[in-house]
Amino acid sequence: MIKTKTKYEGDDNKVIVTAALPYANGNIHIGHLLEYIQADVYTRFLKLIGREAYYICASDMHGTPIEVNAAKEGVKPEVFVEKFWSEHQKDFATFLIKFDNYYKTHSSENRLLAEFFFSELKKKDLIYTKKIKVMFCVSCARYLPDRFVKGVCPNCKAEEQYGDICEKCNAVLKAFDLINSFCVICKNKPEQRDSLHYFFKLSQFVDKLQAWMLSEKEMQQEMKNWLQGWIDKGLDDWCISRDAPYFGFEIPGSLQETGQVKYFYVWLDAPIGYISSTQNLMNRMSKRWEDYWHKGRVQHFIGKDISYFHFLFWPAILMAMEIPLPKLMVHGFITVNGQKMSKSRGTYFTAKDFAALYPVEGLRFYYASHLDRKLVDVDLSLEEFKAVNNNVLMGSLGNFCYRVLTFAEKNYGCVDKIADEKNLNREILELVKEIEGDYLAMDFKSVVKGILTIADIGNAYFQRSEVWKCKDSNDAKAKVGWCVNLARNLAILASPILPEFSRKVREVLGEKKWGGIDVGFGWKGELGKVELLVEKVELKNEIVRFPLHMVIGEVKEVEDHPNADSLYLMKVDFGVEKGLKQVVAGLKKFFRLEELVGKRAVFCVNMKPAKLRGEVSEAMIMVADDGEKLGLLQVSSREAGEEVLFEGMVFGGGEIGYEDFKKLKMEVKGKNVVFEGRTLSYGKAAIVVEGVKEGARIA
Ligand code: 2FM
Ligand code: ZN
Repeated sequence: MIKTKTKYEGDDNKVIVTAALPYANGNIHIGHLLEYIQADVYTRFLKLIGREAYYICASDMHGTPIEVNAAKEGVKPEVFVEKFWSEHQKDFATFLIKFDNYYKTHSSENRLLAEFFFSELKKKDLIYTKKIKVMFCVSCARYLPDRFVKGVCPNCKAEEQYGDICEKCNAVLKAFDLINSFCVICKNKPEQRDSLHYFFKLSQFVDKLQAWMLSEKEMQQEMKNWLQGWIDKGLDDWCISRDAPYFGFEIPGSLQETGQVKYFYVWLDAPIGYISSTQNLMNRMSKRWEDYWHKGRVQHFIGKDISYFHFLFWPAILMAMEIPLPKLMVHGFITVNGQKMSKSRGTYFTAKDFAALYPVEGLRFYYASHLDRKLVDVDLSLEEFKAVNNNVLMGSLGNFCYRVLTFAEKNYGCVDKIADEKNLNREILELVKEIEGDYLAMDFKSVVKGILTIADIGNAYFQRSEVWKCKDSNDAKAKVGWCVNLARNLAILASPILPEFSRKVREVLGEKKWGGIDVGFGWKGELGKVELLVEKVELKNEIVRFPLHMVIGEVKEVEDHPNADSLYLMKVDFGVEKGLKQVVAGLKKFFRLEELVGKRAVFCVNMKPAKLRGEVSEAMIMVADDGEKLGLLQVSSREAGEEVLFEGMVFGGGEIGYEDFKKLKMEVKGKNVVFEGRTLSYGKAAIVVEGVKEGARIA
């Protein structure tokens, strides 16, 4: 029996795991990854032990910032959010985060559910309308949410504070309390207007929330204290509507009831997105979401910054809807080298940047070894990250498995004898039980400790056995056989945290799948070749920045330049974010017009805009030139708009002139493009150049 640290209610066999739905409005960074990795480890463990668990997520697509940013880029919000929806999924996959469904809040399922919730709450008399004061910017012709108004804090007189909270003195503010307020979009002074809005009667749920908190055995103590604080203060009703322009769902009947079209506030339909994403998955599997939300266990992972929504609003709404309440696991913030992430200090890493610099399983392991049930911030100290990866993951766990497996494979090619180490086996199986309990309790720090304790037992055993002195004896073979079994056990135990590491070990053993914590000391069989199991971390003291912003573009149209014989005029698509650009290229001597149309190639998009014979060129196509022929830097399977990087480098920002571009010594080596020993690639796939000689320069 698994010894658990906590007692569970509901049907623990059916589990829905969620992580907060990220806004489709910016890059995923290493701060986000903590939670997605945490929830991923938990779900992978549940699946390993045979639970019916699903990892559910979605893009959070609504709200004013998305609507405003899409407008800035001149695209519809529907188009704007799709770009991030696919981008985010790639980032998550890079970090081996495996969702069962990654859906969207701007979906028909979510619209219907949000409308259903709204009408049910109305029927139960939990919604009413009330006139309130809102800020309106005449020059932008829009209502302004608190975050779109800035001014001087009336409390401490700090300048440039947002209309919801003063970051200097922490005073909770209302946008119209600000002195000298201005609209953050156009800097003009906004005015106050009256507007009729919908409110949810949150105040009626104080007692129920208190009872929930008291009965909830799994809730972290820090969260209980925090929640009690709010309950003691009393709760205000919650405004759940917003004025146009807004990107969200229209509230049915709002025009008749309020005289204007209103939209559901993003924080109303976002958590409903947890359900609609489940529903979308279950529909495809011919199952019912209700069987999971009503009868199973729903486990949310969130950061402490969104506690307010998950411990007050969402539970109250669910209570009103008579849906059992989810379990919540809250984590703290990420700091890098002890401070808030900052671009100027070089400690702001997007998921892409980080993966280009460091091994992703290193980060998974680091985060896992810092996550327990306590609500503390996690510091990603890069020095510590290196030490944990190289000395602990590689030096202890990786070293044991790698040494033992290569020794066994080279010398015997199989395991056919296993030493009978009764005492050690008993000790290890005890530790395994604890590790299982720790996984279920989401105490991954203890899981890692347990795994390392076992790895240490293995390392010490292998060292003292000195099998290399008498390789061919039966005794040595049996001892190595025991060690291989231990490596197998470790790989199973670590698989939720280190899926790739485990896969490599599993393939050495020729096993297809591990079902359950199938640990023991009875495995015999052939051994395959062993790959490197853990990558070493080399700290890049400074992130290496590269002056070119290289992006994949798709050539849409090509025509002759009206005033130059050797030039083409091309229209190139750089994806939703960057759009269509005109590019002037001297390719006429080398390529026919038709050869270029439809090609995806690498372009430099941060060139100082130039006019070539009267035509503007907004980007430059990158080609390899060997003096005779030109070769395009082609990419077939990638989408327009995706960034291309030299390994371990990130784009440093700014523009570059053609003279400086020419000074960069990029050349073709073995069909790849290389700069200072680094290969140009997308993720791990190198860019290929055909048809030019070795040493061709990129121009
Ligand atoms: O804070 C955020 O990033 C939100 N997009 C989280 C939403 S979680 C859920 F409620 F949808
Ligand atoms: Zn304005």
